[in-house]
Amino acid sequence: MTIKIENQTQVLQWLREDDPEKLDELFSLADQVRRENTGDGIHLRGLIEVSNQCSRDCAYCGLNVSNKKINRYSLTDEEIFACVDKALELGYGTAVLQAGEDKTIDPERIVRIIKQIKKTTGLAITLSLGEWPDDIYQLWKQAGADRYLLKFETSDRNLFERIHPGSDQYRTEMIPRIQQLGFEMGSGVMVGLPGQSYQSLAGDIMLFSKLNLDMIGVGPFIPDPDTIMGKQPELFNLDVENQVPNSEIMAIKAIALTRLKCPTTNMPVTTSLATLNSDNGLEKALCCGGNVIMPNLTPMRYRTDYQIYPGKASLVEPEMFLAKLKHRFEAIGRHISKGRGDSAKFLYRTERQVPHEHKK
Ligand code: 5AD
Repeated sequence: MTIKIENQTQVLQWLREDDPEKLDELFSLADQVRRENTGDGIHLRGLIEVSNQCSRDCAYCGLNVSNKKINRYSLTDEEIFACVDKALELGYGTAVLQAGEDKTIDPERIVRIIKQIKKTTGLAITLSLGEWPDDIYQLWKQAGADRYLLKFETSDRNLFERIHPGSDQYRTEMIPRIQQLGFEMGSGVMVGLPGQSYQSLAGDIMLFSKLNLDMIGVGPFIPDPDTIMGKQPELFNLDVENQVPNSEIMAIKAIALTRLKCPTTNMPVTTSLATLNSDNGLEKALCCGGNVIMPNLTPMRYRTDYQIYPGKASLVEPEMFLAKLKHRFEAIGRHISKGRGDSAKFLYRTERQVPHEHKK
């Protein structure tokens, strides 16, 4: 069978496909394309959840401002630097600073943290701090940040406005501007959001390729009882025929299709997929397109407070987590890659040297 995924109709047909044999062919092709374009190395990024404060009231996310059940925290500079030290100690090439849409964050403080990390380590820095004015992104870029991660969550504008109230701009329009500032740009969506149609998910995958993203995270939606979507999904759900289910297989299909549309991009396995299937969700995603993992370095005592959805928090110590990962990678013939793990796409775009692992 020749698999062609050129237009939205073909993506849509594959999203609706449920013949296991055909899907196996799709997954093998995605795995092959991943291997040819990004190699067998898996990039590890140390995730530091610097604050769970949030000013937004998103219908899907457990950190929403109306949720009074969680303890809100902000890491001190010392705590952040201790996580950075841990990233170095474990040999990770990147530190990811992530937070809710925390408007109490002082952008100048982020500048100081970026500069300090850059002065003392060779780590790449990814920021995932939500929506800010362009001049703030520019400030952070000039301070030395390398990458920005802003998921557009769904390309259906109507749905996005309903589930993510309070934005004064569309993320799909912000993304090219942030990329223009020189960031490696990451984005992504949730699969099976109540109100997400097959047509719109196919549109998300087409948009990934159009946006020329350096990193794309695709994971299943997991309902949280402390969100509007968790409490009243009926307010959003479409009829069964059109509603995308938030199942593991649907997420895997979307990952494979994304890899086929975006051969050279970096694709992290989302924690939501690893949560939905803790036995082998990770391996499945790595074998149909995934090539990045973001192990959590947040201090243990804050982990359960960063509850975006139930079951997210892993209380495994970073050293133990890494040891287990190594075994799991070996079992599928993969290995941890060395260095910062810049996206091949970004290196081509900026005409920097293409590392050996990225060469075909
Ligand atoms: N289920 C799955 N993923 C979620 N995210 C937020 N809420 C949920 C949920 N209920 C994802 C979003 C966000 C990232 C930090 O976590 O894609 O960008």
